[in-house]
Amino acid sequence: MSPLPDRRAVLAATARLIAEAWESFDRPRPVEPGLDAALLEHLAAPLPETGEEVEEVLRDAAGILDGSVSPARPLYVAYVGSTATSVGAMGAALAATYDVNLATHAAAADLVERQALGWTGELIGYRHAEGAFTSGGMVSNLSALLAARERALPGSRREGVAGRAAGVYASAEGHHSVLRAVEVAGLGTAALRVLPIDDDRRLVPDALEEALERDRAAGVVPVAVVATAGTTLTGAVDPIAAVADVCARHGTWLHVDGAYGLPAAAAPSAARLFDGLARADSVTLDAHKWLGVPKSCSVVLVRHAGALGAAFGHRETYMLGGEDRTHAVETTLEYSRPFRSLKLWLALRALGAAEYRSGIERTLGHARALVALVEADPAFELLNRPQLSTVCFRHRPAGKPAADLDAHNLLLARAMQEDGRVYLAPALVDGRTCLRACFVNFRTKAEQVAVILDVARELGARA
Ligand SMILES: Cc1ncc(COP(=O)(O)O)c(C=O)c1O
Repeated sequence: MSPLPDRRAVLAATARLIAEAWESFDRPRPVEPGLDAALLEHLAAPLPETGEEVEEVLRDAAGILDGSVSPARPLYVAYVGSTATSVGAMGAALAATYDVNLATHAAAADLVERQALGWTGELIGYRHAEGAFTSGGMVSNLSALLAARERALPGSRREGVAGRAAGVYASAEGHHSVLRAVEVAGLGTAALRVLPIDDDRRLVPDALEEALERDRAAGVVPVAVVATAGTTLTGAVDPIAAVADVCARHGTWLHVDGAYGLPAAAAPSAARLFDGLARADSVTLDAHKWLGVPKSCSVVLVRHAGALGAAFGHRETYMLGGEDRTHAVETTLEYSRPFRSLKLWLALRALGAAEYRSGIERTLGHARALVALVEADPAFELLNRPQLSTVCFRHRPAGKPAADLDAHNLLLARAMQEDGRVYLAPALVDGRTCLRACFVNFRTKAEQVAVILDVARELGARA
């Protein structure tokens, strides 16, 4: 493959496109632009036989990105978004340029990964012995569960778990990735014990205690308890200290799934919700959510040295290790791994922990501000009192029969997505369809929060 004819010109053009994108993220855009006819035509074209002019292709790529849903925009509050911080994006570009493979010994990059894991633990107050950067909460949760499985059922990675009944325990509002991890780990769907939640949507420790006692009496081996530190639906934080007490009594591995919520442990106003975190055997945190670096960038941290090696350790004939040369793949689920940690390392260095703490506090404040606005307007109803940064609410205009509210809010969420000023997604809380806003984007400004209700009010009057 021949090199680009004028690399510097192409790089300058790319830099211009990136700068334009960043400028467009400075304020909410008034409409969804959609794709123009020429681009749509390109997207239906067959495989090109000969290459095209690079700058033109780059412009098309930028047009496609502009017509895509981006969580980096300040009023994207759907699902659990991200900021895609500028410095993180530059880290992604640099890492891709060198294309270091974090499966094998990678020299300086290994040191960066180790330091970024250490800084992440320091930020949230969790002391770990080992860990890894992974592709997301799914793989972080799975990695931790495989380590827990090997501890509870030694040799299970080689012999399988056939004939040995195992249990994994999580609240009814734990993330689906926990169930998927249970399935992938070969424990079977039924091994997941779905535990009740209290009025604050937090796992009930007494119910956990009963489930563990019942299972142990029946010969079921408890593999892990998964406490969620920030449920995806409402941001509820399970009572980690009380759950850790139960786990300690039963000698069961405690994993904290903080893919979304764990960064809030760094924020003074939320830190107490995470009491007991240091006692977890492992934790998951997605840096590509509330730490704002571009996808994908997740972290799994484990308190016990050797636990990941017990789950994943092996020798490759083409990748000989040894005391003086280890390969990350001996402690990770993935093989080829991009240099994800560089994005977080750069962002933590360039912004500093204090800036992160205040950014997270600001987003927590946006949630509290939205609650106040919802409660002040009789046309809206609040469905959860946020522990973190997620607010579920619904539009309840005067005269609209209660039986029509689910359909009304679903239509309203769709209308808001098409309108484009605010991007939020509908959700279901206790069987009621609602609007859900999750604040994790450092670009959202305090004065923009009211726009969410203004747009919901305006479009809701028409829906
Ligand atoms: C609590 C929780 N766990 C796990 C996940 C899965 O994370 P990912 O999408 O990074 O794989 C999510 C995603 O939103 C989540 O909120």
